[in-house]
Amino acid sequence: MEIDRPRLFDLEALKRPLIQANDFYGQDILSVSQFTRQSLAYIFDVAEEMRELVERVGSADLLRGYVLACLFYEPSTRTSSSFIAAMARLGGGVIPITQGVQYSSVSKGESLPDTVRTLEQYADAIVLRHPEVGSAKIAADYARVPVINAGDGAGEHPTQALLDLFTLREELGHIDGLRVAMVGDLKYGRTVHSLAKLLSMYDVEIYLVSPEILRLPLDQANELRDKGIPIRETYHVADVISTVDVLYVTRVQRERFADLSQYEEVRDFYEITPELMKQAKGEMIVMHPLPRAGEIHYAVDDDPRAAYFRQMRNGMYIRMALLAAVLGKA
Ligand code: NCD
Repeated sequence: MEIDRPRLFDLEALKRPLIQANDFYGQDILSVSQFTRQSLAYIFDVAEEMRELVERVGSADLLRGYVLACLFYEPSTRTSSSFIAAMARLGGGVIPITQGVQYSSVSKGESLPDTVRTLEQYADAIVLRHPEVGSAKIAADYARVPVINAGDGAGEHPTQALLDLFTLREELGHIDGLRVAMVGDLKYGRTVHSLAKLLSMYDVEIYLVSPEILRLPLDQANELRDKGIPIRETYHVADVISTVDVLYVTRVQRERFADLSQYEEVRDFYEITPELMKQAKGEMIVMHPLPRAGEIHYAVDDDPRAAYFRQMRNGMYIRMALLAAVLGKA
């Protein structure tokens, strides 16, 4: 039977205009190795515009009608919320599988490839957090839509490193010339792995501060050395605090220890206190990807040099910029 009705949509008129085909349009974001100083500057510039948008207006319709799937196999507060907020502030929607994959078909034994191939039927991009190194790459191999790595085990966490670098630039005005101390779990901390790689594109000095069993993996330290980055290693924050411009503190990653007694040995190795902060330069900053587990005292929060709350907010601007770029709107 022929049905005579007018068409609901004028599809030609509704077509999504591509604003700019930038380097990231349609691309997966799996590792910081994909970035150059030039492409970072581009993302930071867009993030700056996103900040202005949010501060002055609150939101816009740049991604109206777009859908992002957030697929989290590991707990998250900041990364998941900031991706969801980023999408909301740009007018898009989210499929939030962030409250535990146990409520998805993953609990029925569905594989990562099948889960990804499901979500791509509904979404224009997929953000994935997963406990295994390399999982984001596997997901990207199966998905036809862009996959953004929101942390693959102890591997990488590229969007965090981007917001970390953006924060350095916002807070201190430049990246070249900085002395950056990375403190805590340098072995398992994926934010450290990504940030160290990104920093090595700049003219910086890196201080690695960790207990012996949590040192930065040798291949990563060598990669930094090969790029000509001066590295100094020590166990004690007190050795470096008066020298550095940035203290990047991290949590000991309990969930990555095979032997929990080893975790107990190092869990309280570092404590940043107001007392310790007295030795630091007036214009240095303290950063932390968060959550913290005792390594920065609450009493430090009121110190203007404590940048970790501002750092979190920057996460939303960076993710707005990345989503816009990947979806061809920036
Ligand atoms: C970090 C992570 O998940 O790697 N958190 C985050 O995304 N801000 C750091 C951590 O969990 O210690």
